[in-house]
Amino acid sequence: MSKKIKQRYANFIKDTLINLYPDSSSGNLIKLLEAFYNTAAKSFIFGNGSDELISIILLSLKKDVVVNIPTPSFSMYDIIARYNDLKINYIKLDEKCFDLPKNAGINQSSANNIYFFSYPNNPTGNHFDSDIIKGLLENKNNIVVVDEAYIYFSNKESFIKYIPEYDNLIVLRTFSKIGLAGLRFGMLFSGGRLINEFNKIKLPFNVNSLTLSSIEFFLDNFSEFEKNIKKTVNQREKLYSALKKVGFICAYPSDANFILIRLKDNKIKTRFNRFLKDNKIIIRSFTGGMELFYRITVGTPAENKKLIDYLKGF
Ligand SMILES: Cc1ncc(COP(=O)(O)O)c(C=O)c1O
Repeated sequence: MSKKIKQRYANFIKDTLINLYPDSSSGNLIKLLEAFYNTAAKSFIFGNGSDELISIILLSLKKDVVVNIPTPSFSMYDIIARYNDLKINYIKLDEKCFDLPKNAGINQSSANNIYFFSYPNNPTGNHFDSDIIKGLLENKNNIVVVDEAYIYFSNKESFIKYIPEYDNLIVLRTFSKIGLAGLRFGMLFSGGRLINEFNKIKLPFNVNSLTLSSIEFFLDNFSEFEKNIKKTVNQREKLYSALKKVGFICAYPSDANFILIRLKDNKIKTRFNRFLKDNKIIIRSFTGGMELFYRITVGTPAENKKLIDYLKGF
């Protein structure tokens, strides 16, 4: 954030009435978001990050609903479904390009299914085929969650526009990935039917006044983020081209703010881990059959250059 914006933010936030409970209906903010996302009011719920919204969705389900989770994908779908004792069906993604199998959802064993799609997918960086997702939405016994945490970095169309068409669709958004992770602000968009169910579970003051005010400010100054998003996308493409040239790495194309890589073999992995430690580089590693994979978050130009320079000397 520029110094100028930081100063204006500090000025704005100081007038927040922290002696009062937050406005649990968040009237002002809803109007701003309605205009910003071009969607109908009443179709929002806010969360303390979208993690909380995932938890609210899963808490509201009856125990006979099957939770369908692609693998690999964002781990919280699985973690929260498991601690709520829900039935889980893992959808194994295609090994080459990590897309959904064409028959995803066709052999449903239960009448009630919920699907979680990170769009683009974390950690693979690709979008699933939107026609497969739309096909699942056509079955009214399904609930489909399209989690657009990383969509700001992609040029694919959001599912928000389908909300009036499908009342079994939920779209999640967060401000975490564009530079406001500490504020903890997530949004859930859906038609009225599901929103009513979630409102029964949601705690009334789950998002604090400082966060609500901050989001008002940042929506008004969104161009600041747009500049940074463009820079990140630009850096991602540079990093991707450089990673592709590293012989022992297979880099996957990404529409998010990270790049998934796969090392050639276990021998390289041992050396690679030592290399990361020696150079004080922390990137995301995986278990559960993905031991050769790492997810690299796109950093600043200087950080990315450092990584590439280090890799050249590997
Ligand atoms: C796909 C996806 N959804 C949701 C989240 C959670 O975001 P938040 O910080 O809003 O809780 C993450 C965070 O890593 C994510 O990768």
